Amino acid sequence: MKIDQTTVNDKKIRIRKSDLGLTLLVWLREVLDLTGVKNGCGIGACGSCTVLLDKRPVRACITTMDRVIDREILTIEGLTLSDGSLHPLQQAFIDAGAIQCGFCTPGMVLTAHALLLNNPNPSREEIRKVLTGNLCRCTGYQQIIDAVERATGYYQAKPKRVMKR
Ligand code: FES
Ligand code: FES
Repeated sequence: MKIDQTTVNDKKIRIRKSDLGLTLLVWLREVLDLTGVKNGCGIGACGSCTVLLDKRPVRACITTMDRVIDREILTIEGLTLSDGSLHPLQQAFIDAGAIQCGFCTPGMVLTAHALLLNNPNPSREEIRKVLTGNLCRCTGYQQIIDAVERATGYYQAKPKRVMKR
């Protein structure tokens, strides 16, 4: 019998039959205890639940578990570098003052990470456009755009073919 599984932050995880009725958001938070993914609106409107599915941003609150079988999920917990230090993009958010309450931050960071993996040298306009679906009630967005710009050097320096994080 085939066992349903998926990869979360580089680890293969079995999906139980009873998990198939859950959203990815509930599964990550309540089954795997990965609470970095946030539940803002629950209807796909705010972006706070964004995670990467095969390196593309998805809204975990409206993603059903049948869609993640045999795929690769990256959450904010998995973005941390292998030595345990913050990813340069996370550090850039801190350095640019782009975090206030922090509720939107995991979704913002992962959406920006997906952009920079594909395009390590985006214009400010491109950054703004990609992040339009991620709402922030605190920062006024400028510092968030600044943070993504600050991190571009890291992505430019790494060859694309070896880039996972
Ligand atoms: S919680 Fe998923 S988009 Fe708002
Ligand atoms: S920092 Fe509070 S919602 Fe963005």
